[in-house]
Amino acid sequence: MAEPVHILVTGGAGQVGLALRRAAWPAEVVIHAPDHAELDITDPAAVAAAFARTPFKAVINAAAYTAVDKAETDREAAFAVNATAPGLLAAAAARSGAAMLQVSTDYVFDGSKSAPYVEDDAWGPLGVYGASKLAGEQAVLAAHPRAVILRTAWVLSPDRANFLKTMLRLAADRPALRVVEDQIGCPTSAADIAETLKTLTLRFLADPGAPSGVYHFVNAGETSWAGLARHILTLSAARGGPTATVEGIPTTDYPTPARRPANSRLATDKIARDFAIHPRPWQDAVAEIVDQLLTERAAA
Ligand SMILES: NC(=O)c1ccc[n+]([C@@H]2O[C@H](COP(=O)([O-])OP(=O)(O)OC[C@H]3O[C@@H](n4cnc5c(N)ncnc54)[C@H](OP(=O)(O)O)[C@@H]3O)[C@@H](O)[C@H]2O)c1
Repeated sequence: MAEPVHILVTGGAGQVGLALRRAAWPAEVVIHAPDHAELDITDPAAVAAAFARTPFKAVINAAAYTAVDKAETDREAAFAVNATAPGLLAAAAARSGAAMLQVSTDYVFDGSKSAPYVEDDAWGPLGVYGASKLAGEQAVLAAHPRAVILRTAWVLSPDRANFLKTMLRLAADRPALRVVEDQIGCPTSAADIAETLKTLTLRFLADPGAPSGVYHFVNAGETSWAGLARHILTLSAARGGPTATVEGIPTTDYPTPARRPANSRLATDKIARDFAIHPRPWQDAVAEIVDQLLTERAAA
């Protein structure tokens, strides 16, 4: 029997963390996916104890402070989780000779570009969350010589609170929804992000000299939040689930504490070239999640 290969997944109860737990890993891989209560990544003693207990071969940091609006008035906490802690995890991974994969975000950009963002485009976070995630990328790259930063966007899954679940919930109560039409991006399945993180991790375990650095991964295609809402609710209607009409509105009609990029699109050519990862269309990913949620509902 092959030696066990231990992999630490932080934030094990988040959208991406849960998808990583569910991914089909090779038999020798042992996934350790503590939730926030089981491993607080801002607690250096707890992180050190986790590394002392288990000889991790890879660390995937799926933990994050993701409350974008709350972060505006909670800067210290956002930076502790999204910037300082990833640096500590990366340093611990480097000391143990483990691979380090950090999940990051399109919010490191200001959204003013008229085309999809590539990995080395200039940063310009519009809010505290984006600034804290950018600081996290830099801390990880400084602490680990071969870290991977995987930037993604508009994450959807059957778990936790996310835009897709919110649309289905609201449509159950209201005949019409008003949704922002002038922000565009690439809706992305947490399961597809997990599959990508798995591919990258296994590649690193097989070949520590594999390409590293910053990569973008999102599902293929693009839409607006209103376009995404219409697609979700059309799929739901076709499956007998809740539906509503969607009126597109400008961002100015839906003010939020944190500004968001008007263009969240990420180009995925680099990950295709270096790792032969080719994302499926966002519509397929969304249909899969709607099916999962409506099947769960029907079974309940
Ligand atoms: N969601 C999106 O649309 C989106 C877009 C772009 C990039 N991303 C990035 O994708 C990654 C995964 O996001 P997600 O959507 O899976 O987020 P999520 O569902 O909010 O999960 C994040 C997890 O991190 C945990 N966490 C928070 N503080 C922690 C701490 N100090 N120690 C340990 N765990 C902690 C949270 O636990 P509690 O809830 O119990 O605190 C939660 O389970 C993050 O890096 C995020 O920045 C997300």
